[in-house]
Amino acid sequence: MIVKICVGSSCHLKGSYDIIEAMKKIIAEHGAENKVELRASFCLGNCKNGVTLTADKPDERMLHNVSPDNVREVFEREILPYLE
Ligand code: FES
Repeated sequence: MIVKICVGSSCHLKGSYDIIEAMKKIIAEHGAENKVELRASFCLGNCKNGVTLTADKPDERMLHNVSPDNVREVFEREILPYLE
């Protein structure tokens, strides 16, 4: 699965760097390094909706308002079940 984390200026200010670091850690905890490809992305056009991510499985979708408080929950609910 390809997960893109927005590092555009708005998301950057809202802490996307911290989200990337937290996501890397959570992926490693699940031993899923070979199943998730994390990429940084330019603005995804949803700057008003907090830090925005995209995931491409089971279909291309956007995840909004990702924060250090909910990144684990987002991973476990939106990414983990769809890993092959
Ligand atoms: S800067 Fe992230 S959606 Fe625009």
